[in-house]
Amino acid sequence: MKTMSNTLIGTHVLRCVHCGTIQDKVDRLFRCSECSELLEVIYPDWAEATPESSVRLKKLWQERRLSTAAEDVSGVWRYRELLPRVEPHNIVTMSEGNTPVVLLKKAARSLRLPHLLVKHQGMNPTGSFKDTGISAAISMAKAEGFSWVGCASTGNTSASVAAYAAHAEMKSLVFLPAGQVSSGKLAQALEYGATVVQLRTDFDGCLKLLHEVVQRFPAYLLNSVNPYRLEGQKTVAFELMEQLNWSVPDHVIVPGGNLGNSSALGKGFLEMLELGLISTVPKLSIIQAAGANPLVRTMRENGGKELIQVNAETRATAIRIGNPASWRKAVAVLKNTGGTAEEVSEEEISLAKAELGAEGIGCEPASATTLAGLKKLVRSGFVKTSESVVLVLTGHMLKDVDYMLKAVDYKAQGDRFLGPIEADAGAVVRTLERIYAGN
Ligand code: F0G
Repeated sequence: MKTMSNTLIGTHVLRCVHCGTIQDKVDRLFRCSECSELLEVIYPDWAEATPESSVRLKKLWQERRLSTAAEDVSGVWRYRELLPRVEPHNIVTMSEGNTPVVLLKKAARSLRLPHLLVKHQGMNPTGSFKDTGISAAISMAKAEGFSWVGCASTGNTSASVAAYAAHAEMKSLVFLPAGQVSSGKLAQALEYGATVVQLRTDFDGCLKLLHEVVQRFPAYLLNSVNPYRLEGQKTVAFELMEQLNWSVPDHVIVPGGNLGNSSALGKGFLEMLELGLISTVPKLSIIQAAGANPLVRTMRENGGKELIQVNAETRATAIRIGNPASWRKAVAVLKNTGGTAEEVSEEEISLAKAELGAEGIGCEPASATTLAGLKKLVRSGFVKTSESVVLVLTGHMLKDVDYMLKAVDYKAQGDRFLGPIEADAGAVVRTLERIYAGN
C-alpha cells in the first residue's frame, strides 16, 4: 500500500463558519469559542496543491480499489488525503460508502431529461448515508479515548451510531423523539445495543437536551454539529465524481433536515474545485417537506440571513426538523454552488416515492423528496431539459415499511395484490387468466 507522503495531506484546523476564528481547542459541543457558532474543518496545507497533485490523487484513489486493506475498501477512508489524519488502528470502518449510481429511466422520459441518475446512499451498512459521517467522527472519538458516544436522532443517525459503536466496542447513548421514529430504525438501534432514551419532545428538543447531557456525561457528540461528521459525508461527492468519470453533473439534489448532509456534499464539491480535481461544481439544491421547511422559508423571506424556525410536521419523519443546526453552512453551499431550496407537499413525496419504487428503486420517504423537488424545478425552468441531474437517495426502502403500506392502497389497485384465495394452482391460474386475459 502506498503511503500518504507523496500526496497532499496536511494537518487540519477547526474554523468558525461565522466569525472565522481558528480554534485553539474545541469544547464538547464543537462550538466557536468566540461566537458559539458551528465549526468546519479546513486544511491550510492545501494551498500548495498543483495540477500534478490532483492527477496523482485520482490515480492513487483508483489504485486503492484493487487493495483489500480495510482503509482502502472503505468509501470514506479511501479518500483519506482529504480527511483529518487518523492512525489506522483508530479507524472504525464497515466498508461504508461504495454505493451504486443507477439510471432512472421512466422518470427521465417523463421529465424529458437526457441524464437522470440516483446515488443510492441507502445501500450503506446500516441503510442510510449516515454511515460515512459516523465512520469519520467515531474514529476521532476513538482516537481521543472516549468509550461512550451519543446522538439525538430521527432514527437513521441512531441506527448508524449504535452499529459503529458496537463494532468499535464502544457504548452508545441515543435520544429519540418518542413515537416519532419508524419502527425499523428503532429496532436497529436496540439490536445494535444502544442505550435508547425516548423523550417527550421532537428532534430539535432531543438535540438541545443532548447538548446539556454531554457536558455532564462523558459521551462524544456524534450529531452533525460535529464537524468531523461532515468530513466523512463529503466523500460521497468524491466517490460520485469517480463513478461519473469526473464529468460534473449540472445538478445534484438532496433532501434537507438538519442540513448536515447538504453542507457536507457542497463542501466536497467545493474542495474538489479548489484542488483542481474538477473545473466546475454542480448546482446543489436542497428539498424540504413543506411542513418542515425552515431553510426554504429562510431563503425566501430573508435571503439566508436569519434562520426562521418552524414547528415541523411531516410523515417523512427523517426530516421532521424545524431548527436545523447547519443552516448557515447550507445557505453558503446554496450560494457557492448556485443551487436553490424547494419544498414539496406530502402528496408529492408519496407520489415520487411510488414512482421510484415502480422503477425498482426503493428509498425512504425523505429521500423521495428529491424526485418530487426535481419535478418542481423542471416545471419552474431551474433545471433545464438539456441538463444532467443526480438525486441523492439517503435511506433504504425498508427503513419505513409502515409508510409504504399506509401511503398506497394496493388492494384498491385490484389486479396485483390478490387474495387471500385458495392455495390451489387451478384457482390461482383461473384468477390470473381472468385478470390478465389478452395481456
Ligand atoms: N434523509 C434521511 C433518510 C435522513 O435520515 C436525514 C436525517 C436526512 C435525509 C436529512 O439529512 O439532517 O443532514 O439534512 N436524519 C437525521 C437522523 C436527522 O437523526 O437520522 P440532514
